Amino acid sequence: MTKINSLKKYQHNQLIEELVRVDHAGEYGAKLIYQGQLSVLKNHKDIKGMLEQELTHLEYFEKEIKKRKVRPTVLQPLWHVGGFAMGAITALMGEKAAMACTVAVEEVIDAHYQEQLKELNKISGEDELKSSINKFREEEVDHMNHGLDAGAQDALGYPALKFAVSTITKVAIALSKKF
Ligand SMILES: [Fe+2]
Ligand SMILES: [Fe+2]
Repeated sequence: MTKINSLKKYQHNQLIEELVRVDHAGEYGAKLIYQGQLSVLKNHKDIKGMLEQELTHLEYFEKEIKKRKVRPTVLQPLWHVGGFAMGAITALMGEKAAMACTVAVEEVIDAHYQEQLKELNKISGEDELKSSINKFREEEVDHMNHGLDAGAQDALGYPALKFAVSTITKVAIALSKKF
């Protein structure tokens, strides 16, 4: 292998490794957020439906992480506690605040997946990964729209709440790529 080719291979592997690690962490966090919300808003049909989809996203990345021998984030215990707390606390503030949390998280995830797809489209192959991420992205957008339809914007202190949740989500994403 020439130096250029081995450098390309290294960059490819690096990209995929970070991508699988952060997406696995993100879907794990999403599962915990919705479980946290359900711990307060028990049997909420729509939240249950969103959780179901997060479980299929997580299951996909669980498989990828094993198949590709990628180290999961070391911060998983933190996302476990943090995700659940974020879901539970917003749900305790009321159903609309829970929906505001969903809108904020899913908006960040949509942008994150779009960015990844842009990077992935620069490399050849990985078609299955690309189409899975795109499918998940569409479902995250559905979650966001659902939150908006359910009155997220009427939550008390919506702009501040949305800003806080977005910021936490962005920080979690940045950290999970590397650690
Ligand atoms: Fe998801
Ligand atoms: Fe989602």
